[in-house]
Amino acid sequence: MSRMVGATSIQPRILSSFVGDRFIQSAQPLHQLFRYNPGSKHLSMQLSRTLSGLTNLLFNRRNLDGLSNKRKRLRPGKLSPRRPVPDHIPRPSYVKSRKPPGIASGPEVHDEKGIDCMRASGRLAAQVLEYAGTLVKPGIKTDEIDQAVHQMIIDNGAYPSPLGYGGFPKSVCTSVNECICHGIPDSRALEDGDIVNIDVTVYLNGYHGDTSTTFLCGNVDDEARKLVQVTKECLYKAISICAPGVEFKKIGKTIHDHADNYRYGVVQQFVGHGVGRVFHADPVILHYRNNDAGRMVLNQTFTIEPMLTIGSINPIMWDDNWTVVTEDGSLSAQFEHTILITQDGAEILTQC
Ligand code: MF3
Ligand code: CO
Ligand code: CO
Repeated sequence: MSRMVGATSIQPRILSSFVGDRFIQSAQPLHQLFRYNPGSKHLSMQLSRTLSGLTNLLFNRRNLDGLSNKRKRLRPGKLSPRRPVPDHIPRPSYVKSRKPPGIASGPEVHDEKGIDCMRASGRLAAQVLEYAGTLVKPGIKTDEIDQAVHQMIIDNGAYPSPLGYGGFPKSVCTSVNECICHGIPDSRALEDGDIVNIDVTVYLNGYHGDTSTTFLCGNVDDEARKLVQVTKECLYKAISICAPGVEFKKIGKTIHDHADNYRYGVVQQFVGHGVGRVFHADPVILHYRNNDAGRMVLNQTFTIEPMLTIGSINPIMWDDNWTVVTEDGSLSAQFEHTILITQDGAEILTQC
């Protein structure tokens, strides 16, 4: 695995849905953020990766039946041609520029007008995601989900944020089974028993709203259902502790503690992020236990988007430079909301 953040990697975390991490300035193409780069990292990083490997071995269930009997490993399918967006729909600046988008944009804190715009883009993202979820059935191709999502977003005068983001070829991410995140919709038909995360981001009136849910396709076994359920609980527990003045690191602790109770792993390489006028802004939101500084402020918007695994937490990236899967092929689930910090807590903007 020379090209990956995978098992051997010393590479520190990558913004989730990314954007690099604080040690990597984004002069590089996004996909290079995932690559092993000898000599550029500190020993402390190597140490922490090693420890995380150890944690994995000791506490997760990787040796049970991560890849059980029936389920076939996910394989890339074929991509359909790029879908056009009508000229009258405003694009985010990264679409044309071909420059890799970075995360060096400061936190997203809004005035009243900005909050209204965030509510509108959050609501649209949630509605699109809800609709996409109704399409999840055995036999539908993930490309057909992309088609439907794309159409609904442009019908509402918005731009599908993933399309052209760092070269991403489609309008939504569809991450099936062992895919941790950033799955590219393709010709693969969903199968009975699959779990699939659909991650919708829309750019409406200059503001992004970002949300994802892991859906069950047909008859899903109890082991997978449990993972999906606990991942969702992690997101809601984390949201429940958010308020002005609260330390961001409390999010990681809340999620990690809950995942530990079920011996699930928490993926570290992909993180939540500020979101608003910029798709991936400060701060970086870590989903695992950490000691980072920083507190939430009133009227700030950011995402929380934990990824939990049954087995290994280490990611492998496919040759498409996007699709991220668990190294052992074991299942991964994710949920994401965009939230607004209010006087008394947090408002979920991406809720129907
Ligand atoms: N929506 C993802 C996130 O949660 C980002 C997807 S970027 C893409 O941040 F290019 F992969 F689409
Ligand atoms: Co996100
Ligand atoms: Co997202």
